[in-house]
Amino acid sequence: MTTRRLDDWSARDLRAVAAEHGTPTYVQDLDRVRANYERLDDAFPDARIHYAVKANAGRAVLKALREVDAGAEAASAGEVARALDAGFDPSEIHYTPVNPPDRDLDPILNGPTSGLTVTVGSRDLLDRLDARGFDGRVCLRVHPGVGAGHSEDVATGADAKFGVPAEDATTVLREADARGFDVVGVHAHVGSGMLTEEDVEAHREVVEVIAGIARDSPVDLEFVDVGGGFGVPYRESEEALDLDAVANATRDALADVDADLVVEPGRYLVADAGVLLAEVVSTKPTGDAVVAGADAGMTELLRPALYDAYHPIRSLARDAHDRPTRTVTVVGPVCESTDVLADARDLPRPAVGDLLAVGNAGAYGIEMASNYTSRPRPPVVAVEGDDTRIVRERETMDDLLRFERD
Ligand code: LLP
Repeated sequence: MTTRRLDDWSARDLRAVAAEHGTPTYVQDLDRVRANYERLDDAFPDARIHYAVKANAGRAVLKALREVDAGAEAASAGEVARALDAGFDPSEIHYTPVNPPDRDLDPILNGPTSGLTVTVGSRDLLDRLDARGFDGRVCLRVHPGVGAGHSEDVATGADAKFGVPAEDATTVLREADARGFDVVGVHAHVGSGMLTEEDVEAHREVVEVIAGIARDSPVDLEFVDVGGGFGVPYRESEEALDLDAVANATRDALADVDADLVVEPGRYLVADAGVLLAEVVSTKPTGDAVVAGADAGMTELLRPALYDAYHPIRSLARDAHDRPTRTVTVVGPVCESTDVLADARDLPRPAVGDLLAVGNAGAYGIEMASNYTSRPRPPVVAVEGDDTRIVRERETMDDLLRFERD
C-alpha cells in the first residue's frame, strides 16, 4: 500500500485510544513509519536515508527509524540532542542549522558529538566554525534557486535564506578545504511536499545544480545530499508521489558523479502514520451547514492555520453512516479566526461528543504544536503491533506554570 488514507485506520482502534487517553491526542503508528522507510529504501537502494527530525522528533519515532538503519538530519542543537538521546551515533547525524547562534554551535563541536557532519549554508558560518577550532566534517548547502512544495511558504530551494549561491559553491568548497575542514559533501533541498510531475522536475533541476558542483568539485566528495521534500497526498483527489520517478530523475541527474547519495525525508516517513483525535464539543447549525467546535485546533495542528493546508477529517461516530451529510466546518478552541481544522467539508452531521480523526497528522503536527492561549500540548500514543502505549505525556497546567517567576 503506497498511501495510507484516513479511512484505512481502524475506527474501533482509534475510539479505544480516545477512550483510554482522552482528546485531543496524537496517535503514531510506528509500524507504518518503518514501512514508509522500507518503501523509500526500495526506491533508493543505494542511498543513505537521513530522517529529517523536524517532521516529528518523538523519541519513539526516532528509535523506530534508528532500528531500521536510518541516519538523522537535525536542524538545531535541540534536534541533535534528541537524535543522540534516541541512540543515533554522531557519525549518523547531519546537523543542518539555519543561522545558528553560538550557543547552538559550541556544545555540538566540543561535546560528545564529534564526528557529526555540519551542513554549512553560509560562508560566515565557516568562519565561526574555524574560530572555534572545528576541523571536522563539513557539507556545503547550496541555494539552487529552484523551489517546489505544497505551498510557496515551504519552497525553500527558491529562498536565498538557505545555502550559498550555486555560483559561489566551487570557491567556497576550495576555501573550506584550504582552511583544513574535512569537506565531505554538497547539499540542496528543493522544498517540502513534492507531489506532482512538475515538482519532480524541479527536484531534478536542483539535483542537476548540485551534480554540476560535485563534478567540478576541487575536493573529493563522500556524498551528495539531495535533500528531502517527498510529499504525501492530503486530499482524497491527490495521487501518491511516484517515488520511482523521483529516484530515476535523481539517478539521471547524478550520472557521472562519483559520490554516495544521501536523501533526507521527513514528511514521507511519518505523515500518514499519524492521526490527531479530537472531540466535538459544540455544534452550530446554520441552514445546511454546520460549524463544529472541536477540542483541538491550531494549537495542536498548526498547518491549516499557517499554510491553509488541507488535512482529511473523518467522523468516528459509531452511527456516522446513518447520519445525513452536511457541509461542516471544524473549528478549534482558540480565539482566532484562522483556527479552522477543516473548511466546508461534506461530513456526517456532527453531534456533541463525536470523535473526529484528522489524517496525515504525523508530520509537522505535534512538532509545531504550541501552548498559545495556555493550552497544554496533547499526548502522543504509539501503536506498534498489538501494543498501544503513551510515548509523550499530556502536558498539564503545572507544566505551563513551571517556568514562571514573580
Ligand atoms: N531537509 C531540509 C534541509 C529541510 O529544510 C527540510 C524541511 C527537510 C529536509 C524535510 O522536508 P520533508 O521531507 O519533510 O518535506 N512545516 C512545514 C514543512 C517545512 C519543512 C522545512 N524543511 C509543513 O508543515 O508543511
